[in-house]
Amino acid sequence: MEPTLPTATVDRRTVASLFSRLRTGKGQSNPRPLYAELRALGDIFPSPWGGHLVTSYALCDEVMRSRTWRVPDTEWRAGQANAARWNTPASLQTAKSLPMLNPPHHTKVRRSAGSMFDRAKLAEIEISIAKNVEKVLDVFEGELLKGPADFTSLVAEELPVRAIGEWLNLPAGDYSVLRSLTNDQTLSQEFFPSPSQLARADAAARGLQEYFTALVRERRAMPGDDPVSSWIATWDTLEPDREKADAEAHSMAVFVIVAALETTEHLLSGMVRLLLEHPDQLERLRTHPEYIPHVVDETLRYDPAIHAISRTAPHDITLGGALVREGEMVQLMVGAAQHDPRQYENPEDFDVRRKPPHFGFGSGIHYCLGAPLARLEGSLLLASILRRLPRLRISEPPAWEPRVSFRRLNHLMVTPA
Ligand code: HEM
Repeated sequence: MEPTLPTATVDRRTVASLFSRLRTGKGQSNPRPLYAELRALGDIFPSPWGGHLVTSYALCDEVMRSRTWRVPDTEWRAGQANAARWNTPASLQTAKSLPMLNPPHHTKVRRSAGSMFDRAKLAEIEISIAKNVEKVLDVFEGELLKGPADFTSLVAEELPVRAIGEWLNLPAGDYSVLRSLTNDQTLSQEFFPSPSQLARADAAARGLQEYFTALVRERRAMPGDDPVSSWIATWDTLEPDREKADAEAHSMAVFVIVAALETTEHLLSGMVRLLLEHPDQLERLRTHPEYIPHVVDETLRYDPAIHAISRTAPHDITLGGALVREGEMVQLMVGAAQHDPRQYENPEDFDVRRKPPHFGFGSGIHYCLGAPLARLEGSLLLASILRRLPRLRISEPPAWEPRVSFRRLNHLMVTPA
């Protein structure tokens, strides 16, 4: 199929109207037809809010893999005409984190993080994740005996906080507050956050700041066998100023908790929702459990947690025939690009046999460091659900948060079939 060439005359109102529909609970319940409309406008076209929107798989891939494009770091943010929007406390907290750093600082910080989840670490935590899978499913099964139960809050939100909480060695009593702080913090990364959402995001950023400042202080005083203590030790060798070393360990800790929760929650509830919505695929999986790892990837292709990824142009660049001026942003609409028919055969089919390439964990130098953990959680949970709860059905239409960038399923009510 030929590329859809950039349309200089893409009507701003058409794009704005598409996004207003996308940003509703109804639009979020099935964004795919809206994405098809968006792709039909061109592979790249001007955004009504400045910069450009990119909708094709090939162009998203080109930008993310290239070493030329940059992420919107603190310097870029400071230079924006609407600097206030980009410099709220929550946005600045995000701006200090790994995915918002550019080389050479990014290279140094990424190295300092270590591999996070290498084979040995994964083997070590697999046992505790498997135990947590059984525990959360015990509670969930208990609730199902009483009637329809919410898979999102009881399972999809519970497993990731236990996995990351145990890895960071945090007290279990803090999990629920961390869940709510991280959910609110991500609101600042939305396309069009409302003032009240920004206020919630800022309050959450302050809460996370305080929590992790205290944690770094504790681990500095009494180091243990945990990632925060090891980041402090690593930064002590890289940075003579102790305050700066602590600040780096702090940023990494805040970021991993924000990065790990909302995203994995979406993966876990998305995987189960999509299987229940496609009974033929669930049946296929029952007879072919070897497809379990594929389900994780196909879910991340079909409906990733993050639907838009930003990059900025360090100088004038021609992308897909369009001129992107120095400093302009491109929004990579990966949720739309992952249904690009030039990349995937029958992209609208959810197919557990597929082992698709996707941007669910990003690509290039910012590729997700937590991907092995998320994959492990998804696979262990799915295997256990197939064994323990082989017959479930969705009992009411899932409720979606009205957002664009970070997808959020508020409830997934299910009942035994
Ligand atoms: C299903 C779960 C997850 C999804 C869908 C996901 C998605 C992503 C994506 C799309 C990026 C790239 C962002 C960009 O290019 O701008 C990213 C980066 C990152 N993720 Fe994840 N993530 C998940 C879980 C985790 C977990 C569990 C952790 C840590 C424990 C984590 C840590 C990171 C880190 C540190 C980066 C930044 C890498 C860099 O900039 O060099 N993620 N993630």
